[in-house]
Amino acid sequence: MFIDTHCHLSYEYYDDIDNIICENKKALVDKIVISGCDRKGIEESLDTYKKYDGVYVSIGYHPDEALNVGDNDIEELKFLLQNNDVVAIGEIGLDYYYTKENRDKQIWLFEKQLEIAEKLSMPVVIHSRDAVEDTITTLKKYKVNGVIHCFSGSLEVAKIYVKMGFKLGIGGVVTFKNSNLGEVVKNIGVENIVLETDSPYLAPVPYRGSVNSSKNIPIIAEKIADLCNISLEEVAKITSDNAYKVFNL
Ligand code: NI
Repeated sequence: MFIDTHCHLSYEYYDDIDNIICENKKALVDKIVISGCDRKGIEESLDTYKKYDGVYVSIGYHPDEALNVGDNDIEELKFLLQNNDVVAIGEIGLDYYYTKENRDKQIWLFEKQLEIAEKLSMPVVIHSRDAVEDTITTLKKYKVNGVIHCFSGSLEVAKIYVKMGFKLGIGGVVTFKNSNLGEVVKNIGVENIVLETDSPYLAPVPYRGSVNSSKNIPIIAEKIADLCNISLEEVAKITSDNAYKVFNL
């Protein structure tokens, strides 16, 4: 019924992955897309997705990895993308939250992966934090589509991404009291949204601050149903259809 389009299902955060998958199914979250975004994460997530039904994988180098990734890694990534059943490249993008000093290297890494996405006609999962302008400018150079992961910008920015053909990944933040994301969701409509947890991070209220997992997707969906004044079933159906389409599940 529900699809968690973005989570980090790793032994780094969870002791018992079998149990997590079992809990997800009980919560009617029957499909998840796990994201591997550094060398270790990529390797581990490529192992994990093969073991379970309904588990898909997205791989790509996170902007935090900008100073650790070279041409060889990009070549290897391309090889892995072509030799595994990967549904998207990501999360990739730009993050100036901690520093902008490595901006050039971040853009280099982002562009290298966008080139691959364009060449292989694969969707991208975009991480963008404090870097809206550069993200949009860079994306516009390539013929790609996909998801703006953990979208947290203004309605104006949301509309730009939607116009470019992207879906917005909406997660636990929409349940936070101090977030303006509710207004964005109301205005942009569920037809432009996919659900995600970004677990283990960003657990929704009332679990804010604890270890998140995909089983919390219905809490996020419930909030969106409230905001858009539609049923939970409609949210499940529309967001899952969106995910099927974007990722070719
Ligand atoms: Ni993530």
